[in-house]
Amino acid sequence: MKTASAPATLVTGAASGMGRATARVFAAAGFRVVLADINADAGREAADEITSRGGEAHFVRADVTKPDEVANMVAATADRFGRLDCAVNNAACPPDSDRIVDADVEVFRQVVEVNLTSVLACLKHELAQMVDQGGPGAIVNIGSIRSFRARAGSPAYTAAKHAIIGLTRTAALECAGTGVRVNAVCPGAIDTPMLRGSRSARGDTEAATTARQGELGTPEEVAHASLWLCSSASSLVTGQALVADGGYLIR
Ligand SMILES: NC(=O)c1ccc[n+]([C@@H]2O[C@H](COP(=O)([O-])OP(=O)(O)OC[C@H]3O[C@@H](n4cnc5c(N)ncnc54)[C@H](O)[C@@H]3O)[C@@H](O)[C@H]2O)c1
Repeated sequence: MKTASAPATLVTGAASGMGRATARVFAAAGFRVVLADINADAGREAADEITSRGGEAHFVRADVTKPDEVANMVAATADRFGRLDCAVNNAACPPDSDRIVDADVEVFRQVVEVNLTSVLACLKHELAQMVDQGGPGAIVNIGSIRSFRARAGSPAYTAAKHAIIGLTRTAALECAGTGVRVNAVCPGAIDTPMLRGSRSARGDTEAATTARQGELGTPEEVAHASLWLCSSASSLVTGQALVADGGYLIR
């Protein structure tokens, strides 16, 4: 059992991929973690895995597109730990796959709802809790290399991930001086179920992905970037987007 002074953390989309690795890495660093996800079976299994390794982890089922479930998720975390010190807003659905001329407006709405609007809902309640408790606090929103570079055929995902940067900067500005910091981590191609699913839907091979985007990163490498942004080592950093892509964007 961690001490009550161990940072209290919420990770969304924590049943799989980067969210799961983030919960694991934070717990190994001594943080207490609530894992939230729409997938209850995998989320519980992820929390149990952390607990069996001596960490403190609890699962809360939440669909981040439902504002009342987001409010409950944040309240449940604060109730469980007595406060909320850190949050990683990571939940997302896979990219859309049609060019704009073929785009279905309803699909665009859904992708934006899961990958962007949900982050607003999470920030709203996380910031309120952190500012209310008098800070400090640190929030990381998960963007993407698609926050900076478009991909033809994914207009909704690209637009949503670009907007994550604007939302992150707005949130950082609005809580400047409160001790609460808000940043984004923008991963490149990372070996997760989402990447594998999108690749097979496009009929791509791993070789094709790496030829285009460089070697795949691991979920743990991204988790460590979030961990740094949630630690006091980054106390002067807010409103920033940290790219973790092995150098893809500078090529
Ligand atoms: N994998 C990559 O190459 C890559 C690259 C750049 C950015 N990203 C971003 O990283 C983050 C994590 O992606 P991943 O690759 O680990 O994906 P993943 O599919 O492995 O995991 C996503 C998790 O989010 C959950 N989720 C989806 N919709 C939800 C909802 N409405 N409410 C609650 N939970 C929900 C899923 O159940 C799943 O557990 C996402 O924000 C994604 O856009 C991924």
